[in-house]
Amino acid sequence: MLDIAVAKSALPKSGALVLLIPEGTTPDASTGALWKAADEATGGAISRALAVAEFTGKKGQATTILAPGAGLSRVIAIGLGKLEALTGHIAEAAGGSACAALSKEPAASIATAGLAPDIAASAALGAVLRAYRFDRYRTKEKAEDKPKLAKLTLLTDTPPKVKAAWTPLKGVAEGVFVARDLVSEPPNVLNPPEMAKRIEALSALGLKIEVLYPKDMKKLGFGALLGVAQGSAQEARTVIMHWNGAPSNKDAPLCFVGKGVTFDTGGISIKPAGGMEDMKWDMGGSGTVVGLMAALAGRKAKCNAIGLVGLVENMPDGNAQRPGDVVTTYSGQTVEVINTDAEGRLVLADVLWYAQQKYNPRFMIDLATLTGAMMVALGHEMAGFFANDDTIADQLFAAGKATGEGVWRMPLSDAYDKLIKSDIADMKNIGGRAGGAITAAQFIQRFVNNKPWIHIDIAGMAWSSKDTATIPKGATAFGVRLLDRMVADHYEA
Ligand code: BES
Ligand code: MN
Ligand code: ZN
Repeated sequence: MLDIAVAKSALPKSGALVLLIPEGTTPDASTGALWKAADEATGGAISRALAVAEFTGKKGQATTILAPGAGLSRVIAIGLGKLEALTGHIAEAAGGSACAALSKEPAASIATAGLAPDIAASAALGAVLRAYRFDRYRTKEKAEDKPKLAKLTLLTDTPPKVKAAWTPLKGVAEGVFVARDLVSEPPNVLNPPEMAKRIEALSALGLKIEVLYPKDMKKLGFGALLGVAQGSAQEARTVIMHWNGAPSNKDAPLCFVGKGVTFDTGGISIKPAGGMEDMKWDMGGSGTVVGLMAALAGRKAKCNAIGLVGLVENMPDGNAQRPGDVVTTYSGQTVEVINTDAEGRLVLADVLWYAQQKYNPRFMIDLATLTGAMMVALGHEMAGFFANDDTIADQLFAAGKATGEGVWRMPLSDAYDKLIKSDIADMKNIGGRAGGAITAAQFIQRFVNNKPWIHIDIAGMAWSSKDTATIPKGATAFGVRLLDRMVADHYEA
């Protein structure tokens, strides 16, 4: 992780300096002390360059000034927009684009004097999130092609306050990286047993980890999850992570449940070859749950939370389940498997039922790269969610606004539920093409027994095909920040 240091505000004598500039301000304004100092030390080079670039501090504006003098290698000005409208999310984006502009600098400073401590810390978070790279499998990259930025110093008038604001955000960033690492791994490496092992290693953070093996799941009657796994040479796992951070151990836990299909070929209902490699990130929902649990533990959240992930590989094989098979779920309900590619809901069915029977949670939230239909509906800008409870739905929506991990509520109703009636079993595992994300949610709801519940379909959000301010191309860890925020705002003692 990019190293973040905090120091008393003073003009650096060398290296790179980032200026965060609110719209319409001048170097004399309270937030512009270092801007003024740098401008004077360089004989006005910065003001001249910003004038030529028509830099006004508008949100998203970024200008780099190379070798302005006074020993500085570069000065990067980033616009924050209007000071009255400044949020943590805007500061994060500013930190992220500063980071992208600093890739050739081994170390840099960022002027945050005059900004609130949590805004300064958010800028650091943005930079750290943008600096993420998954380069475990690159053996030939030349040193000059690698980003050099290793240390970023926040310059502030109140170092203790900024440090205190940064500490919990660092825990959240570490959780995001846990999720991104898992989602980035290739599917030959990250199969269910390997993913379970990596989760077990997180006990170092203070999480208590339990693993259910195939014999345990067979005994319990996880017929739906095991039906998906039966075509794979890799054994299935269900992994349960406990975080007990509430003052009382008796507080009902928050439960988070993730789809963890480490590779989804579609099974016998096999997918077309083009783009099938994307299905390595079909464990994105469980990646987010694991990352969230790491974040809660990393920042010592004052809540009790349980993360449960159902880990399977969906393969075609002589032992694979067939279209037409009927499986008996842990809930006792039977499912006619019409399409073996609608496997995520089968996995979630058993794990959700287990979560509510065993832990009597305050609420359950599941995350899954569940349907292409959700991607068609909302694209790659927001995740869709379904809820049986307006209070938690509103809390989730607000957390989406606050973090920039946007979510949009979708409908549930009896009319949609009818579409998964089966002629032979209690339900079938697909509806038609129309409303495909909704019928998937209706299926999952049949495994929710009078508990407040949200299902988040992150199919369009788990992977990014382009760099954005705080998310490099690749695994996004979508949902870690969102749910961490919902917990922080409503469920901590
Ligand atoms: N993992 C896929 C959904 C998916 C597709 C996620 C593309 C991300 C990108 C899921 O298991 C699936 O195959 N869903 C089918 C359901 C259909 C058979 C009812 C789909 O969406 O096509
Ligand atoms: Mn599938
Ligand atoms: Zn899938």
